[in-house]
Amino acid sequence: MDKTYRIAPSILSANFAKLGQEIEDVIKSGTDIVHFDVMDNHFVPNLTIGPLVCDAIRELSHNVGALIDVHLMVEPVDRIIPDFAKAGADIITFHPEASRHIDRSLAMIRDLGCKSGLVFNPATPLSYLDYVMDKVDMILLMSVNPGFGGQKFIPSTLGKLKEARARIDAYTAETGRQIWLEVDGGVNASNIAEIAKAGADTFVAGSAIFGAPQDTDPNRYDTVVKAMRASLASV
Ligand code: DX5
Ligand code: ZN
Repeated sequence: MDKTYRIAPSILSANFAKLGQEIEDVIKSGTDIVHFDVMDNHFVPNLTIGPLVCDAIRELSHNVGALIDVHLMVEPVDRIIPDFAKAGADIITFHPEASRHIDRSLAMIRDLGCKSGLVFNPATPLSYLDYVMDKVDMILLMSVNPGFGGQKFIPSTLGKLKEARARIDAYTAETGRQIWLEVDGGVNASNIAEIAKAGADTFVAGSAIFGAPQDTDPNRYDTVVKAMRASLASV
C-alpha cells in the first residue's frame, strides 16, 4: 500500500476572518491538503462556502504546495462541479446519494481535469464502488454524519476502512493504479494511528487542528500537527 500519509485540515473550523493566513500557517505546519467543505442546507443541515471562496484561496494554497480537496455535501452535484473545477479545485468528491447518475458525475470531474472521488456516510454501503473503481481517485469515508465539525469519531468506521482498504489493494494489485483512502470526522492525534492501521492514508482534521488557541503565532499549529505525525510514524 501507499505509505505516504497526508493530513488535510478542514477549513470549516478555521477563522474565516483570516482565512488566507490560516491556510498558509496550517500548511507550513506540515499539512498537505486544504479540505474544503461545501454544504447547501439541503443535503446536510448547514450552509458554508462555494466556488467564490475556492477561487479566492486557490493561488495562496497552490503557492504553498497544497491541493484543494472539495468535499461536496450538496444535491444535486452536476450543476456545481464545473464551477469548482474553474475555481481551482484539485480533487472533487461527492456523496452517491446526491447524484442521479454517479458514473456520469465522476466522469465529468475527470473530464474537467480534477481528481474524482466518492464519499460514504456512516450508513452508506461501499457497494456503490462496485462498477466505478476505475473512475475514482479517492474514496472518502465519513466517520461522523456530515454537516458539522467537532463531532465524535464513530468507531464502526474502522471496520469499514479495512473493507475499503481491501477493495483498493485488490484493485491496485490488478491495475497498478493507486486510489487514496481518506477519512473525515473526529480525527485527532489520539486516534489517528488506529485509523491509519485500519487503512486510511489521508486524514481530514478540522477542530483538532484549528481548535488550537486563536493567536497570531504562525507556528501555533505545529504542536498538534507534530503530534499527529508522531502517532503516524508509530504505525
Ligand atoms: C463534516 C465535514 C468535516 C468536518 C470535520 O461534515 O465534512 O470535514 O469539518 O471536522 P472535525 O475534524 O472537527 O470532525
Ligand atoms: Zn469534509
